[in-house]
Amino acid sequence: MSVLKRSAQRARWLLRLGVDRVGDWFYSIDTVVAGALPHASEISRFGDAYVNGPVSYWILRSYLDCKTLGPKEVFYDIGCGHGRVLCMVARHRVAKCIGIELSKEFAEKARTNAVALRGRVSPIELRVGDAAEMDYSDGTTFYFGDPFGAYTMRSVLKRIGETLTANPRAIRCIFVLPIFERSDAVRRVIETSGWLNFVGGQSLPYSPMRVEYWGGGPNRNGAR
Ligand SMILES: C[S@@+](CC[C@H](N)C(=O)[O-])C[C@H]1O[C@@H](n2cnc3c(N)ncnc32)[C@H](O)[C@@H]1O
Repeated sequence: MSVLKRSAQRARWLLRLGVDRVGDWFYSIDTVVAGALPHASEISRFGDAYVNGPVSYWILRSYLDCKTLGPKEVFYDIGCGHGRVLCMVARHRVAKCIGIELSKEFAEKARTNAVALRGRVSPIELRVGDAAEMDYSDGTTFYFGDPFGAYTMRSVLKRIGETLTANPRAIRCIFVLPIFERSDAVRRVIETSGWLNFVGGQSLPYSPMRVEYWGGGPNRNGAR
């Protein structure tokens, strides 16, 4: 890689960090991860957890339109890290925001952020443990910010799909997928879930990520 390209990358990274610090200051929370992205010290059932790397605020804003969430929405961030997404959503009127996090340490920080959050109007609940073992029976929107690999994804989607029999409802899923080979397997799992339909997708500005919207359940085509 040329020196020029490396310098441009570094400048972009610093700019992003600065914007995120301002975002945290504005929301009165602490979600920035400045150095090497940390891993949960706990091991999940399938051992495919990814690192805790929150999506930058300004990128988040380009695809997560909280105004589309209604007051009955139960929003899950599966692999919530320090809770940045939860905090953004909880500033809008929804029934509940639920964060699932493998790491006790990250979840504790998310809990502190939920309490400190400026302008919160909706409740935030943190559940610590493996997403592959959680209950999703009340969820309506499920957000996946690139938390884990295909094995855990398969198990989580199966669990969510099963809740549709006992509690038929419209569901939407938002997947942040890196455009690297490693997310091909995750995408295959999404495509073959048997209950999700593709609604749309977009690439993200200055990011090697892409976001996809999928819908499932009765009366929902997964409207964004
Ligand atoms: C990329 S971070 C997500 C950050 C968060 N969604 C945000 O945007 O602020 C992925 C998180 O998923 C968590 N994670 C990975 N595997 C998990 C699992 N099996 N169950 C629950 N959380 C998991 C990681 O510990 C990490 O904090």
